[in-house]
Amino acid sequence: MHPFQCVLRARRCLRRGPLASVSWLLLRTCRAHSSVPSSACPSPQRQQEDGVWKDFSSRLATGPTFQDFLRSASVPPEQPSSSEVEDPPPYLTVDELLGRQRRVYLETYGCQMNVNDTEIAWSILQKSGYLRTSNLQEADVILLVTCSIREKAEQTIWNRLHQLKSLKSKRLRSRVPLRIGILGCMAERLKEEILNREKMVDILAGPDAYRDLPRLLAVAESGQQAANVLLSLDETYADVMPVQTSPSATSAFVSIMRGCDNMCSYCIVPFTRGRERSRPVASILEEVRKLSEQGLKEVTLLGQNVNSFRDNSEVQFNNAVSTNLSRGFSTNYKAKQGGLRFAHLLDQVSRIDPEMRIRFTSPHPKDFPDEVLQLIRERDNICKQIHLPAQSGSSRVLEAMRRGYSREAYVELIHHIRESIPGVSLSSDFIAGFCGETEEDHLQTVSLLREVQYNIGFLFAYSMRQKTRAYHRLKDDIPEEVKLRRLEELITVFREEATKANKSFVGCTQLVLVEGPSKRSAADLCGRNDGNLKVIFADAEMEDATDSGLRVRAQPGDYVLVKITSASSQTLKGHVLCKTTLKDSTAYC
Ligand code: 5AD
Ligand code: SF4
Repeated sequence: MHPFQCVLRARRCLRRGPLASVSWLLLRTCRAHSSVPSSACPSPQRQQEDGVWKDFSSRLATGPTFQDFLRSASVPPEQPSSSEVEDPPPYLTVDELLGRQRRVYLETYGCQMNVNDTEIAWSILQKSGYLRTSNLQEADVILLVTCSIREKAEQTIWNRLHQLKSLKSKRLRSRVPLRIGILGCMAERLKEEILNREKMVDILAGPDAYRDLPRLLAVAESGQQAANVLLSLDETYADVMPVQTSPSATSAFVSIMRGCDNMCSYCIVPFTRGRERSRPVASILEEVRKLSEQGLKEVTLLGQNVNSFRDNSEVQFNNAVSTNLSRGFSTNYKAKQGGLRFAHLLDQVSRIDPEMRIRFTSPHPKDFPDEVLQLIRERDNICKQIHLPAQSGSSRVLEAMRRGYSREAYVELIHHIRESIPGVSLSSDFIAGFCGETEEDHLQTVSLLREVQYNIGFLFAYSMRQKTRAYHRLKDDIPEEVKLRRLEELITVFREEATKANKSFVGCTQLVLVEGPSKRSAADLCGRNDGNLKVIFADAEMEDATDSGLRVRAQPGDYVLVKITSASSQTLKGHVLCKTTLKDSTAYC
């Protein structure tokens, strides 16, 4: 029996019998003599009265020790172990918390944080004895990991729920009832509104409630709806090793912080994902080390404000030092102090495995102190790629968005980054048609796209979200067709400029991490360059520069040098030169 199981049974014994104030040792004895029904555990008074207390003490002394419990604690692999299960609430037993081989189908919507959250949720359920299925028809539990960032994202989920409704109603009576759960941002934003609107939803779990999934599912087993949408100030799932959904030979995400304190006026994230909090550095390093041991070649550090990272879990000597913001940038919150910052983490992470590429997303432009830029420049395995969400090119709109910078400060930062990291690849997010945006404001955004010439861009039409500052204080006054027209214009300009920027790679040699076959043609392979651009090349035999010139074919996870022959706004094409290592080769023109 596992010691934890012992304690759990002891608690049950405690609930039934008159042992409320008894020490844990006595409880353990109840366990040790588990052939005795727990309700038969005598009270201490009775024992003393009966004159057996002495005898009992000596039995205790000669009985099993804590080590005996530890020794007998081994459980066969793959078996759901109650030791992994949280302490059950009074209305559930340990067994009810176990998955009992129910099959879970998980579907992910939205950003990379949601991909990582899916891996965390699955890791928790797997430990509770659930099985995974990729076949919807086979599922006993369907969980949708949802996004609320724009209205359209939520509409996709409502449509999906309508499809799933028929699956639930047509379910054969011979099978266990199908349970459906909404996880993540939409559960957090809409709370019981989802349960009222869609009676077929059985469980809701907000982004900080994934540890509670086994309990929520156990409650749902009894036919009741169950929800946990509590936000936390400190949940980072630091001790949960995510289980990759679609295991990749090359790359993985590592969550380093959660939540956002910025309160940009259009954004729902601070309300769905709660306050900013960072995961302790040690647990991040441990996860990256494990991924390196598994042979992964790329890690993307994740967080809503990844470069605002601040590990305050240990006392530091420089706790009173204020944060260095990028020049011309301010925050909507009181300056924070101390803690281990992003530059420290990036330095440590990049030292783990020189053959492992390090990326990070999504950063905020305010948190790019020189230490971070220098580190990116100096360290070969930190990709020279920076996402710098601008949102708008108009200082007036940026102020209404409460972004904490002007167009000028943003452009100055771009120049500084380009000087600090030659050849850096830049990407950005933009919103078209924010409250009060004039044609002149829009043209300012167009001109910023022309001026910066981003390599990668994510462009969206503004979608008003309840609870946000813009919802309360501003008017969503740009007609839908104008928003869409402006969005189209931004997309066109972005593509023109990205094509120009990417054409500068033609004739150059790029270091590419191979991902696998290209989607378009089985004769081609696909990978990414340092700047995260997709590179397509023919799957041909090449020299292996790491192994005395052997002739080989590229495999996923290999680094290869590719000579670029053409470029579009999205991809580079070329031919492979040789297999190499990250350390031994750099891209050149
Ligand atoms: N409407 C449109 N786009 C939004 N984003 C965030 N909130 C909204 C909204 N209400 C965009 C921003 C952000 C990206 C993740 O999503 O550009 O950087
Ligand atoms: Fe939203 Fe702004 Fe926070 Fe990004 S920084 S998640 S846009 S509030």
